[in-house]
Amino acid sequence: MGNEDLRLFDNEDIRPEDRADTEREESGGSGRKSRANTLNDLTGTEWIKATKSWLVCDSRRYHQNRNTELHPARYPEELVAQFLRFFTKRGGWVLDPFCGSGATLVASLEESRNAVGIELSERYAALAGGRLVGLRNGRTAEVLRADARQIASRDLWADGPAPLGDDGLPRFDFIMTSPPYWNMLRKSRGGVRSTHKERAEHGLDTDYGESEGNLGLITDYDEFVAQLGRVFEACGRLLAPRKYMVIVVQNVRVPDGYVRPLAWDIARRVSEAPGLSFQGERIWCQDSKKLGIWGYPTVFVPNYHHHYCLIFRRDD
Ligand SMILES: C[S@@+](CC[C@H](N)C(=O)[O-])C[C@H]1O[C@@H](n2cnc3c(N)ncnc32)[C@H](O)[C@@H]1O
Repeated sequence: MGNEDLRLFDNEDIRPEDRADTEREESGGSGRKSRANTLNDLTGTEWIKATKSWLVCDSRRYHQNRNTELHPARYPEELVAQFLRFFTKRGGWVLDPFCGSGATLVASLEESRNAVGIELSERYAALAGGRLVGLRNGRTAEVLRADARQIASRDLWADGPAPLGDDGLPRFDFIMTSPPYWNMLRKSRGGVRSTHKERAEHGLDTDYGESEGNLGLITDYDEFVAQLGRVFEACGRLLAPRKYMVIVVQNVRVPDGYVRPLAWDIARRVSEAPGLSFQGERIWCQDSKKLGIWGYPTVFVPNYHHHYCLIFRRDD
């Protein structure tokens, strides 16, 4: 660890109870686990490295996964694994309310955690469920085919798979997800040859389909943010106290030329949910994504190759 990294320990924002833990690590040397660590199984050095505000995740496994390429908007298992190791201990329970191809569930099993995924599309629920076969190794992972807007309904959880609290709802140690990015998958990208067009030519899905309840079909932006906000507020009720939720989302540029600050709007909306507070972000960078020639040669159009991983904590 270089001097620059050590300066992190000077941060006066660390709460007194957390600072005690940090100081123990500092004096005890790097590479040790603290007995006072209630959050994860990391050593002090691993902990500090995992707080860097950006990370690059772009593995071959992500790009060349024939099992999952049908799904049009996945995130990599490696990304999930980094957050799982920070926000849970082995054996913890993880929820993904928009589980898509099942990356959160696969990573959870690979990291010896238990997981439940909610997915509206029958096709993706089957895809995700199929990927879990042979990975469980004594852990639990299930996909429930359901509408995430019903996530705090007792009926959804009555038959398991997660252990229930006195109120008939489960309490998860961590929630990680990536929702539809509004209806962006259905918007035309103009005349350039895009990944979107290549997928269509190969018979792969380019959007999440027509299922009733698909949030990616909502055309009005404010209505979309409102509905998504309600889902995440309900997710907050399923988090155990002082546990975390990570929402992976992007700002989006619509074809009429305006950028909708979706990530920032979600950060604000979820911060206003009772019991949830915004704790900051890590930025997932994609370094090998193809560049599109969007605005050349007249206007600036960003090639968005990063996503915000927005971090919230349940505070009570
Ligand atoms: C961005 S994708 C998630 C991808 C996932 N992280 C992965 O790596 O495969 C969003 C998912 O939300 C699903 N979805 C849309 N509306 C939903 C709803 N109301 N309830 C549950 N899932 C929904 C879509 O079918 C899609 O699979």
